[in-house]
Parts: sequence; structure tokens; C-alpha cells
Amino acid sequence: MTTTTGAPRPAPLPLLVLGQGRDLASERGVECPGDLPAPSDPGLVERARAAKAALGERVFVLGHHYQRDEVIEFADVTGDSFKLAKEAAARPDAEYVVFCGVHFMAESADILTAEEQTVVLPDLAAGCSMADMAAIDQVQECWEQLAEAGVAERTVPVTYMNSSAAIKAFTGRHGGTICTSSNARTALTWALDRAGDGGKVLFLPDQHLGRNTYARDLGRPLEDCVVWDPHRPMGGLTPEQLRDATMILWRGHCSVHGRFSVEAVEAARRDIPGVKVIVHPECRHEVVALADEVGSTERIIRTIAAAPAGTAWAVGTELNLVRRLAAQFPEQRIAFLEKNVCYCSTMNRIDLPHLVWALESLVEGRVVNAIRVDDETSRYARAALDQMLALPGETGKD
Ligand code: 13P
Ligand code: SF4
Repeated sequence: MTTTTGAPRPAPLPLLVLGQGRDLASERGVECPGDLPAPSDPGLVERARAAKAALGERVFVLGHHYQRDEVIEFADVTGDSFKLAKEAAARPDAEYVVFCGVHFMAESADILTAEEQTVVLPDLAAGCSMADMAAIDQVQECWEQLAEAGVAERTVPVTYMNSSAAIKAFTGRHGGTICTSSNARTALTWALDRAGDGGKVLFLPDQHLGRNTYARDLGRPLEDCVVWDPHRPMGGLTPEQLRDATMILWRGHCSVHGRFSVEAVEAARRDIPGVKVIVHPECRHEVVALADEVGSTERIIRTIAAAPAGTAWAVGTELNLVRRLAAQFPEQRIAFLEKNVCYCSTMNRIDLPHLVWALESLVEGRVVNAIRVDDETSRYARAALDQMLALPGETGKD
């Protein structure tokens, strides 16, 4: 491990070109083994139906809200990452949990399900660029440097669900909690309380969710936040900055939500009469500050569903979900907030051919793309996930 004076750790590789390379230890893209059905096969829907019917109660299919329509159609339950984590934990009878989402979600499902259950991710290239922005050796090095600066013992880690199992285990080892966009406010309140007077929170890996929750939801000063850059010695911070900060935000972001802009909010207000802007808390703080409503994907859906007919919305979250909302609520006027943002490319790796391949393989008695977290990592990650599920007043409905 390097110390305060050591050279900064080299940047980890960005997402491997999807479908190439192999790095099972990270969220990066990996090769998909086996023969996939052709996307042009007109029988894919029927094949998925038949495979699912053949598996019956043995399989449970979870679908994150950002999945494609063709995949969502086969989900037994849809939800945000909080809801899906709870759903996975509540299905002890399903032999197989097929997770249509991304790698960190499938890892969490494996941690929360029983030993004899198997979690399958239909395409191993469905990673998350945000989760990749915090590697375990970088986080451990950060912690050592916080210790050298004399602040680690007063710091409680709060880790967003969008992180590898290794980072979740780090959080469990250091008495912290996991959070999702549904419960970040409750989790942060708990952690600040636990850290006590003069204590700190290390929030990782999404700086925007951390900043937005602290400043917008809790109404606390932005000046209390500093950003830890894992590519710079001592995170790019002075010992004084560290000592004065309450929120140490990891320098990570979502490559989809980070692109919604202030200009897009202004354009929506200019072009759509009476529009309400609703965005996900992974968006940048200046965008969130201008929005009318901010919330997790579940909250965005609930808010739009409950609005009177004729309400106009500009929605800042992943495009698959926004398109589905527009189709589901034709009595509302629903626009995508930003013309320069597109689908989450890794979420979109899960398509019908991959789902058919995963399900048909299970029917043939072959488990493909099983996601297994080792026992040691799983034990500590589970402690941090259990802490999240036990948060005071936890509703998951923020
Ligand atoms: P939620 O599902 O918690 O709203 O998170 C959004 C997201 O980016 C998932 O990858
Ligand atoms: Fe990761 Fe953002 Fe895609 Fe979610 S939407 S999986 S945070 S890159």
C-alpha cells in the first residue's frame, strides 16, 4: 500500500470494450460464453415463455426499472435496487434467481439469498461504470490515509448499493451501512448520528448522491463536503480540509445521470408550459437544486402515477424507464429531460437473446453466469446490507 507521500495509484482501466476481455473480479465487461440465439429469431418470445413455464416455481426473475421492455415482460417483479434486494431475500423457495439488472445487484442478491439458491446474471458484461470507480485497494488505501490523518476512527462509511461486494464488505468491517437512492436520507442520518460530534461520513462511490442527500435532503451546508480523488495522493486533500469536513465524498458518478444538465432543465421550463422537472439523485447537485422533485426510480414512478391527468413532466433518469412511463401514462405529458443522454449501455446488455439463453440453459440443467460472492466477503457485506435493512424507520419509500 502506498502512503500519504506515495505516488497516486494508476487509474483502473475504464470499462473494457463490452464483450471482450475477462475480469470476473470487477464490474467490467467480460466475455459471454455459449451460443446465444440470434436476435432476429422470431421465436424468442415464445422460447422465453416456454423456458420460464418449464422451470415454474424453481425460477424467479427480477427486473430493474432500467431494463428493456422485451426483458421486463418476463420479470416476476420489477423495482429499484432497494426493492429488488428485498424481493431477492424474500424468495427462499426459488432455486434460481435470474437477475435482469447489473452485476452489483446480482452480487447483493447472492449475499441476501440462501446458500443453496443460485443467482444468474444473463450477461456478465452488464456491469456498472460507477461501481468500477471505487476499487477495493483504492478504498483501503483511502482508509489508511484517513487513519494517518487521525480521522478514520471518527468516520462511518456509507456505501451506495452501486458498488462491488468487496466495497460492501469493507463497509461492514468498519461498522457502516449500505444505502440505496430510496433510503439514502435515513442511512446518512443514522451514520452522522453514529459518527457523533465532530465525526465524519465517508460516502462512496457516488459523490452526487452523497452531496444531494446531505445538502438537499438534510439541509446541511455544502461547505462541509470534500471530494476524495482516488487518483491523487491523500485524495487531493490537505489534512486541514479532511479535519474540517463532515462529508468525505468519493469521486465517482453515474455516466448516465451525470450528463443531465442545467441547460436541459432551463430548456424544458422554456419549451413545455407548466412542466415539472423530476430527476434521480445521481444527477449533479446544480441539476437537482433546480428540479421540482427528486427521487429514486420507484419514487419517480409513484409521483408520476399519482399526478393529475394533464401534468407535464421532464424526467431525468434512464431512458428505458422514461419511455415506459410515457407509454403507461398517456394522460400525462412525459418528456425525456435531456437530448444528449441515452440508455445505460450496461443495463442494456441484458436482452432477450441473453435471457432466453440463460433460461433454456437452466431447463437443460446447466447453470450459466452464476454470480457467487466468496464466504468471507459475503459475511461482512451482509452485515452492511443487514444494517441497511434494519435502519430506523426504514421504509424504502423516500
Ligand atoms: P435505483 O434503482 O436505486 O433508483 O438506482 C438507479 C441506478 O442507477 C441503478 O443502477
Ligand atoms: Fe451504473 Fe448509472 Fe447504469 Fe445505474 S444507470 S447501472 S449507476 S451506469
